[in-house]
Amino acid sequence: MQQVFEDIDQRQIKLWGGHTVALRHTLANREMFSDESLAALIENIDPRHMDISTMGDDVTTWGHVDRAGHSGATVLEAIRDGRIWLNMMAIEKVDPRFSELLEQMYSELEGALPDFRTFKRKLGLLISSPGAKVFYHFDVPGQALWQIRGRKKIWIYPPSEPFLSPTNVENVARSLDKEDVPYEPWFDDHSQAYDLEPGDMLHWALNGPHRVENHDVLNVSLTTEHWTSEIRRSYAMNYGNGILRRELHWRPRTRAMSGPAFWAKAGLTAAWRATGMQRKQSYKRVLSYRIDPDAELGRALIDEKDRTAVTI
Ligand SMILES: [Fe+2]
Repeated sequence: MQQVFEDIDQRQIKLWGGHTVALRHTLANREMFSDESLAALIENIDPRHMDISTMGDDVTTWGHVDRAGHSGATVLEAIRDGRIWLNMMAIEKVDPRFSELLEQMYSELEGALPDFRTFKRKLGLLISSPGAKVFYHFDVPGQALWQIRGRKKIWIYPPSEPFLSPTNVENVARSLDKEDVPYEPWFDDHSQAYDLEPGDMLHWALNGPHRVENHDVLNVSLTTEHWTSEIRRSYAMNYGNGILRRELHWRPRTRAMSGPAFWAKAGLTAAWRATGMQRKQSYKRVLSYRIDPDAELGRALIDEKDRTAVTI
């Protein structure tokens, strides 16, 4: 099988994990990303694994969209002419071409990067409209973005205050909030901005906030996420600190990832999750729009009384 990466050089290897890394990949022209293949995937994926959203110019206009029974080709048409962001999550579970690809991506990375051992890897497939945006947010696991078709711009910010507070990370780790965090336009002066073309892949420091704007063209991209033992320790520390702060009204004093305070938090996290409190507090996805290729921006608002919620 063709290599996924063109080359992983020493400089990128040294930057990996703590800094932004830009690599080149060979996936852009594969048949699995053709319109026909994408339309079939839209029709075959379990709807709980497909999150369709829409947005105007600011975060208050963002909402989830119901596929509303449209064919894959019609959904693609609505994306091409509208303002839609379609995310197929865990696509490796739907189609063996994607599970093989995910396997190969990480085996090449783990082969090139010393001490990089991953688990709970996931592959997401994004199809998004010209001009579509992802507002400022961060992700809990390790992340990379792979550009396949079209062009987009991504801004990446440091994973520390004032761009990201410990409380933000704790609440998202515990699924109390979506990943959106407060954003100020002046943050951009402290960001790294990249224009991604087909064949570009970007990986950034853990929890690094980022936002995305598509150029004026349909975009197809992949996201990968992974865990390492270090990411898992960071998660347990943030989760434990969140319980201390929110449930026990105790201000966490340390963000250490080893030592007695860390292990006490890891125990607290495990105990809290075992009580089942986690599920009760999880985020629900309310569908407030439906795909409508004839409507402006490719979607129509659903009456408030007819809206349904999906637990994720
Ligand atoms: Fe993200």
